[in-house]
Amino acid sequence: MPTDEFFYYKKDHLYCEDVKLADLAEKFGTPLYVTSKSSIVAQYRRFEKAFKPLNRLTCYSVKANYSLAVLRALAQEGCGFDVNSGGELFRALEAGAKPKKIIFAGVAKTRNEIEFALRSKVLFQKVESFSEMRAIDEAAKSLKTVAPIAIRVNPNVVAETHPYITTGNDEKKFGIDDALAEEALSLAATLKHVKLVGLAMHIGSQIFDAQAYLEALFKLLSVKALAESKGFDVKYLDVGGGFPITYRQTQPAPDIEVFAEKFIPLLKNQSAQIVFEPGRYIVGNASVILTEALYRKQNHRGKNFVIVDAAMTELMRPMLYEAYHDILPVERKEREIIIADVVGGACESGDFFALDREMPDVKEGELLAIFSAGAYGATMASNYNARPRAAEVMVSGKKAKLIRRRETYKQLIQNEEI
Ligand code: LLP
Repeated sequence: MPTDEFFYYKKDHLYCEDVKLADLAEKFGTPLYVTSKSSIVAQYRRFEKAFKPLNRLTCYSVKANYSLAVLRALAQEGCGFDVNSGGELFRALEAGAKPKKIIFAGVAKTRNEIEFALRSKVLFQKVESFSEMRAIDEAAKSLKTVAPIAIRVNPNVVAETHPYITTGNDEKKFGIDDALAEEALSLAATLKHVKLVGLAMHIGSQIFDAQAYLEALFKLLSVKALAESKGFDVKYLDVGGGFPITYRQTQPAPDIEVFAEKFIPLLKNQSAQIVFEPGRYIVGNASVILTEALYRKQNHRGKNFVIVDAAMTELMRPMLYEAYHDILPVERKEREIIIADVVGGACESGDFFALDREMPDVKEGELLAIFSAGAYGATMASNYNARPRAAEVMVSGKKAKLIRRRETYKQLIQNEEI
């Protein structure tokens, strides 16, 4: 998503809100995540507005971007949170989230994590297997409490997206097959220390096809009817996340309102509260990675490489999913267009941001912005090659605040002993 109202050129310089990106690079160094707070708030509000006719609770999916400042900004808007581990739960609580607006997912919750969620009094834990339901029951028994749970139903639908980010079919590890829902309900009825309060689904990510949601929703609603016929009070119907954003201008994502139009007629008369778990939609286009083009290089056949100081360690998505991210120079000027691979410095051939990309002929030492890095950028970062993690700045209007310091070499080894 190159340039919008939050990232735009003014007099040929790229800005985030009212702050010149080149100034941030100078002050904080590169590579640097730069996040627009106003963009996050605007996306959240647009989401809320689109689904307004529904009795709903929006639980931002923390895995997309869990910087404390990002979580705090959303908590202040009244947003809830979907967490997938004890660590994410800790982050949400540290950022000021209300436990009654936190839901806890994950196929591999450990006993410690289950107890942490119980002690924190989260709204519910999503259950993804029979064994896990028993484990939650035992943990709740030991804490002399009753665990509110939602069964995550795998509706077995095929959603068109990258195979690594589809989740809602029965070849995947997620959820309990809809074919086994009745058995799961029976188990919930026999366990004394779990209380079924909801049903959940999540069919995948970056889903363009609203119809795929509808198909899955029908299945979820039939499980709800079944649960109600067995006397359960299904208070929450969690429809998951996966709402798409535009990464590439030539492949624009449908507007959120398109999804809302489909969801609302189906769900507005539901007695249950509808829970949404958007991640990428809220934060995906709210950050860029600022990086310096360190070197230019050509092979003997004339193939161009632009070698930058960011790497797969800051953004894994191109390597993992061959994901497309726009890359623009921070200073706009007339220049030739070249075809180049934009690559990082990690010791992997898959460490690229773009392959055979038509792009301006940037010079060594110039700054580039890698767009749409707000979701699954920093949260999937690694220290490979002992690269310290990048710093992050949050911009709000004219203000730029360092929200995560750059990691130091000392911090890289702080937990180790010889
Ligand atoms: N709810 C559940 C249960 C999830 O597993 C996920 C994402 C979400 C909500 C949020 O999905 P979103 O609205 O952000 O699409 N690393 C991949 C995405 C993996 C998504 C994992 N689950 C990527 O970079 O595209």
